[in-house]
Amino acid sequence: MRLASFPGVLLAVAPSLAAADEYIWPSRYDELEDILSLQSGYQGRNFSSAITPCTQGGNVRGRQNAAEWIRSAFHDMITHDSALGTGGLDGSIWFELDRAENGALAFENTFNFFAYLHSLRASAADLLAMSVIVSHSGCGGTTRIPFRAGRVDAKGAGPAGVPETDTPLGTVLGRFATAGYSQEDMIALVACGHTLGGVHSHNHPDIVPGESGDRYNDTVVKFDTTDGEFDNAVAVEYLSDNTQNPLVVGKNETKNSDKRIFSSDNNATISRLAGDNAEFEKTCAEVFERMIDTVPSTVELSQPIEPTDIKPYITDLYLNDNGKLVFSGRIRVRTTEGAAAGRLASDLDVQVHHAVRNKRWSCPRINATYVGDARGLYGETFAWYEFGMELNATKGISKFHIETTVRSTGERILYDNGGDGYPVTDELLYQRADSCVARQAVNGTRAMDATVAVRKDRASLPLRLELARYTKMTGLVVREWEVETVAFENTGETRGEDDGWVIFKAPTGLKTASWLTWFDIIQEGDDGSRIEFLKTEACPRTSS
Ligand SMILES: *[C@@H]1O[C@H](CO)[C@@H](O)[C@H](O)[C@H]1NC(C)=O
Ligand SMILES: *[C@@H]1O[C@H](CO)[C@@H](O)[C@H](O)[C@H]1NC(C)=O
Ligand SMILES: *[C@@H]1O[C@H](CO)[C@@H](O)[C@H](O)[C@H]1NC(C)=O
Ligand SMILES: *[C@@H]1O[C@H](CO)[C@@H](O)[C@H](O)[C@H]1NC(C)=O
Ligand SMILES: *[C@@H]1O[C@H](CO)[C@@H](O)[C@H](O)[C@H]1NC(C)=O
Ligand SMILES: *[C@@H]1O[C@H](CO)[C@@H](O)[C@H](O)[C@H]1NC(C)=O
Ligand SMILES: *[C@@H]1O[C@H](CO)[C@@H](O)[C@H](O)[C@H]1NC(C)=O
Repeated sequence: MRLASFPGVLLAVAPSLAAADEYIWPSRYDELEDILSLQSGYQGRNFSSAITPCTQGGNVRGRQNAAEWIRSAFHDMITHDSALGTGGLDGSIWFELDRAENGALAFENTFNFFAYLHSLRASAADLLAMSVIVSHSGCGGTTRIPFRAGRVDAKGAGPAGVPETDTPLGTVLGRFATAGYSQEDMIALVACGHTLGGVHSHNHPDIVPGESGDRYNDTVVKFDTTDGEFDNAVAVEYLSDNTQNPLVVGKNETKNSDKRIFSSDNNATISRLAGDNAEFEKTCAEVFERMIDTVPSTVELSQPIEPTDIKPYITDLYLNDNGKLVFSGRIRVRTTEGAAAGRLASDLDVQVHHAVRNKRWSCPRINATYVGDARGLYGETFAWYEFGMELNATKGISKFHIETTVRSTGERILYDNGGDGYPVTDELLYQRADSCVARQAVNGTRAMDATVAVRKDRASLPLRLELARYTKMTGLVVREWEVETVAFENTGETRGEDDGWVIFKAPTGLKTASWLTWFDIIQEGDDGSRIEFLKTEACPRTSS
């Protein structure tokens, strides 16, 4: 462990993890880590809100979103061919909804719930994979299912072959085997999937009698009596012959697919799952992990994304009207381990310490203010601290450190992002207020003037805007992205103390229906700077 000394204080430097595992900010997985870690609370991304509580299905009778999400992932994945390396969890399901085997509202619903999280940094397939983990945790699953990122969205339909209720056992076994799953895996996957949800009369009027015309008011018979819990009741009830599972006790034997699958190894696997709830829980976490990591061979998944311990967010770094540099943001501190680890939000001070352009450390540390908490999956918690400061623009900024102090013990820890500090640059300053999207559309287009202050010594480098434009695909719920490049123009206007920056603008227009998007600002050249994944924002309402 290294020790860094500062005038008058000795700080312990945060213990370094093995280099390969260490989180270094910024990371291209920051957005996915946010979606995963910030399920609710302050700055919550709210993925889990649609499955909280576990039985939630909006106000639609019988619907259970958590069950639908898991089912969508299964239908997408099971057409994988492990020998050929094709198919798997790739979002092709949304191109396959005209097939009888995918004949349910579940799949479209599923995407609609997380469409707002879909971006170039969060593929629909990654979100579908994450939805399984969100459902698992939200319904009481306790064994952590790791989330690996990197799934690539399919551009069209994949092969058919999702088993249906009347598919003969041999064909079902064959399909699972082709996808890389044994008979035991198959039984576990079906049992784990059917601990939630049920059969809808709208999809299967032949199995569950009831309203089949009105798709929002159909009759649903659940697979087990505890559809709000991730438990082994589906297996226990099957073996004790008192199950209501319509795919076991249905009138038409040909369609009793759960019965055929569960009994296919003389009840060996289902008995094991019924025998011990903890065993069931652990098996489900394993088989769900395999399910979401079943991807085409061209896809390389990341290491599991762990909740980041200390994570900064820059909300602003720009030149204000007085020529000062405004630097503000948030620090997110993982508090899951609580007081024992010196991470009680109410007993913690967080400070930001920046270095000026020439890397010298500035004098004052800035106290960040505690503003609230967020909650993740499997009991993760985070506390948020916000900071803001005005800096001498001539001196500039190059990086910062984060320091935490446990008030009650005085223990101080310095976080230096693996040694080099958290990097920031004053070469490119995104002038957020000048870059907002007009509220009024002209001919269906809203104007945006992306505005950047470029430090004079860098002003000769070409600068471009890379804007992600999405378009709805005909008849489909998923959207397609195209990246458009717009060149910035030097306006000749200067800003900042000593007129040290030149203002560049990239005028563009955004379609009214799809103005909410993301963009990068990229300076060319080997050592060019960039600001990535900025979000478009509407201009403030003007009082009239
Ligand atoms: C998440 O929910 C909270 C509370 O309802 C809301 O304030 C916030 O805007 C939501 N966040 C997103 C990203 O939708
Ligand atoms: C839904 O169906 C049930 C019976 O099947 C009926 O009693 C109820 O009125 C229906 N509700 C709506 C909103 O149509
Ligand atoms: C499997 O269990 C079911 C439910 O208890 C039972 O009806 C069936 O006979 C069993 N099958 C075998 C092969 O043991
Ligand atoms: C039972 O299901 C099979 C397969 O879908 C079908 O061919 C058969 O007609 C059904 N039997 C009855 C009595 O409805
Ligand atoms: C900042 O926090 C420290 C404790 O960590 C405290 O001693 C100091 O007075 C605070 N400074 C200001 C300006 O509030
Ligand atoms: C900003 O820093 C420069 C360089 O150190 C100095 O000359 C100038 O006086 C400072 N400006 C203010 C407003 O403090
Ligand atoms: C709007 O579009 C129409 C038809 O394409 C065109 O004649 C008109 O000049 C446009 N208006 C503006 C303000 O661009």
